[in-house]
Amino acid sequence: MPSETTIKSSSTPPNRLALRGDLLDFSAQPAWGVLDSPAVRFQPDHWLLIADGRIQGSQPAEPDESWHKVDHSGRLIMPGFVDTHVHCPQLDVIASYGTELLDWLNTYTFPAECRYADPAVAQAGAERFLDALLAHGTTAAVVFPTVHKVSAEALFAAAAERGMRLITGKVLMDRHAPAALLDDVASAERDCIDLIDRWHGQGPHGRLAYAVTPRFAPTSSAAQLAMAGALCRADASLYMQTHVAENRAEVRWVSDLFPQARSYLDVYDQLGLLHPRAVLAHGIWLDDEDRLALQRRGAQLAFCPSSNLFLGSGLFDWAAAAGTGVPVSVASDVGGGTSLSMQRNLLDAYKVQALAGQRLSAWAALHAATRGAAEGLGLTHELGHFGTNTLADVCVWDWACGPVAQARDAVAQNLHERVFAWMCLSDERNLVSSYVAGKISYHRKT
Ligand code: GUN
Ligand code: ZN
Repeated sequence: MPSETTIKSSSTPPNRLALRGDLLDFSAQPAWGVLDSPAVRFQPDHWLLIADGRIQGSQPAEPDESWHKVDHSGRLIMPGFVDTHVHCPQLDVIASYGTELLDWLNTYTFPAECRYADPAVAQAGAERFLDALLAHGTTAAVVFPTVHKVSAEALFAAAAERGMRLITGKVLMDRHAPAALLDDVASAERDCIDLIDRWHGQGPHGRLAYAVTPRFAPTSSAAQLAMAGALCRADASLYMQTHVAENRAEVRWVSDLFPQARSYLDVYDQLGLLHPRAVLAHGIWLDDEDRLALQRRGAQLAFCPSSNLFLGSGLFDWAAAAGTGVPVSVASDVGGGTSLSMQRNLLDAYKVQALAGQRLSAWAALHAATRGAAEGLGLTHELGHFGTNTLADVCVWDWACGPVAQARDAVAQNLHERVFAWMCLSDERNLVSSYVAGKISYHRKT
């Protein structure tokens, strides 16, 4: 966008930075449907103190002259959003017309991903993608690149340059895709081991992490899934990301391909892919036994509402997952999803729950996209809230842009009403600044 600039991490951050505004974060998970939850920490017109990239605390009084002060009074300041499932190369196919999942992959997605074999395309794509996340208020993400080793390397390198928390790994796929997107078990294992050695736990503050990334059961042989499971068993600090039970035709295909498995999820469970660092996207067509298996393994679901609606995949049952104790975060799943804006995805999440007779409060939604996501990823010591000593991944937002939102904001009677209207009516145009570990990484020009 011509009116926006992105500031690369080469700019030196002030050691002591104080941001003034209305601070909102969560001390715990707000209970479903509770609008005056004690887990909500709202500190109107406070200063958020950041030293050496870490949050030091907050106070109503203006700090002394040793602080570099930025006055955002009248604005909302929140922890940066965490997008737990998004595809870097799919910015090029966002908003593609007229297909469900399996046709969408073949028609749009696989051709776009083929281009990432070229290191120059992979590098430019990774930089454009991470800058776009930052310009939408997302400061940490769990990301799919492509099957090409170079696409994962490009993402790690670009995230290191920006100081971002990034979890990614080369996509595994050895069947049922164009030849240009296929690997094989032995070369994929070698590539994973090499990438793990070079990137896992590396980067500023050790913020890069490797995710073993089988795309989904249909594009990996049982041998490849078993190799992926063995990598996870060998190092419990590795993440795992994949897709599960998104679309009914996909579910039928998996039951044909893996007749011995009780369910789609069971394919992954039998091969050792479900564990506390596993992030499974979608999970629309799971049953109670699947949800119990996820809960027992400590694995989590990434609910991708704009993608599920756009691809006509189905309506995720958040209440059933939560009732079984399965952690749920919200994710954009771009390019199946239609926006990187977490507010837009949270609004779609609200609508999906409304169709099931459930009401998603702004607190439950915003918690899931910040502290809740961090908890699921085992990262609450680092991000997702304003607790002391966490890295300052922080975003500054306008409460309202344009006459409709401004009029609605002006008549809000209580805090939940105001924040809920903000969640429904705001998007990336409301974003003023993003900070990553206390360093400015995006600033709107006007
Ligand atoms: N299942 C397997 N690959 C994909 C993908 O790229 N996007 C979505 N939404 N589902 C998938
Ligand atoms: Zn996806």
